Amino acid sequence: MNMQMAMDVQIGIVGAGPAGLTLALLLERAGIGCVVLEARSREYVEKRVRAGLLEQNTVDVLHDVGVADRLDREGLDHTGVYLRFRDREFHVDMLRLTGRKITIYGQQEVVKDEIAALLERGVPVHFEVDDVAVHDLDGDHPRITYRHGGEAGELTCEFIAGCDGFHGVCRPSIPDGVLTEHGVVFPFSWLGVLAEAAPSTDELIYAWHPHGFALHSMRSPTVSRLYLQVASDDTLDAWPEDRIWDELEVRIGDVNRGPIFEKGITPMRSFVAEPMRHGRLFLAGDAAHIVPPTGAKGLNLAVNDVRLLAAGLRAFYADGETAALDSYSTAALRRVWRAQDFSNYMTRLLHDLGDPFEQQLQLARLDYLARSEAAASSLAENYVGLPAEPDF
Ligand code: FAD
Ligand code: PHB
Repeated sequence: MNMQMAMDVQIGIVGAGPAGLTLALLLERAGIGCVVLEARSREYVEKRVRAGLLEQNTVDVLHDVGVADRLDREGLDHTGVYLRFRDREFHVDMLRLTGRKITIYGQQEVVKDEIAALLERGVPVHFEVDDVAVHDLDGDHPRITYRHGGEAGELTCEFIAGCDGFHGVCRPSIPDGVLTEHGVVFPFSWLGVLAEAAPSTDELIYAWHPHGFALHSMRSPTVSRLYLQVASDDTLDAWPEDRIWDELEVRIGDVNRGPIFEKGITPMRSFVAEPMRHGRLFLAGDAAHIVPPTGAKGLNLAVNDVRLLAAGLRAFYADGETAALDSYSTAALRRVWRAQDFSNYMTRLLHDLGDPFEQQLQLARLDYLARSEAAASSLAENYVGLPAEPDF
């Protein structure tokens, strides 16, 4: 007979991606109890290849919660990016234009460091949890039910943080009519690869090309991360290694080749659900919003959301103050919409949109960026991330 395990916890966190893990670290530091429930295995989430570019704001949060030792050692400091189009290239010197820099460090490395720190600090993170469902969101004691290791479990919480990504269960559990959803699905995808090849550039290259966009990023002095704009219905089978390298060379120029050890296709969409709260359920990260990756904002937004949410929860537990929790959604959405605008701008600046008139506008905008310090500064301050709003 299966036992029903029930326990109380202050905050139940659904999802062990960057949003859920960073929130758990912030809460642990504030002495607030939490449990993290994750559908996938630890190995799976630690190997899942996604973003790689951290804003200074994000690096600051990782420092604050004491998980930045390896990031400090292995992260690559970047002070700008290159934009290539036609036969031209120019460098946007972000450090000079904004005083801020960015750091390249893979999302799965952040996730590994965070999981290790949480387990070391005794915060429960349960992997391979099935059938997660959230209940009683309107009451004072919302509940999470789930199955783990063949047994039914139930957490009675004071608040639930829905950090379970775009395909999670928390957002769909909010009753119809509460959320307003906004979105665009772009008619193209990104094919991303990781290759054992020394990067052929010192900083990222964003390349405009009549065939479509390409991006040269990296993970380490020996690993390159490369992306190609492909059709929405393209499949990995249609892209054998030689075709990938040849197309990268056409769009970017000389690129060092090496064995590809990871390949994936990511659809490109913008999505926002607001408000990012219903009763005692708070949504954070991809559970509430998605940006196309051209602006490198998804992971950074997730970390900013939970920074604000943790500040609201700290104020609540310190003196019963609910003002910060009540303004969480508005505060988080301010940055989300700024990032939506910037990510859309970068996407529409650089991708083949299938329209010759748009192509001429793109070239005019790129030429303007190359010639105008004001235009380049605007791109730079968005890319490095506007300074974080105060914690209320
Ligand atoms: P996630 O990282 O999605 O974490 C959510 C977690 O919840 C996952 O571990 C998931 O397994 C878990 N979960 C889901 N459902 C349940 C459930 N029912 N119960 C329990 N747990 C559940 N951004 C960039 O800037 N650059 C990129 O190159 C880039 N590439 C991407 C590629 C892909 C395929 C995707 C999906 C996203 C990419 N992003 C990229 C965006 C960036 O990685 C995300 O914004 C970031 O992961 C958001 O973190 P999160 O914690 O909110 O969500
Ligand atoms: C990455 O390194 O994965 C990366 C960098 C910049 C982007 C998107 C992805 O805009």
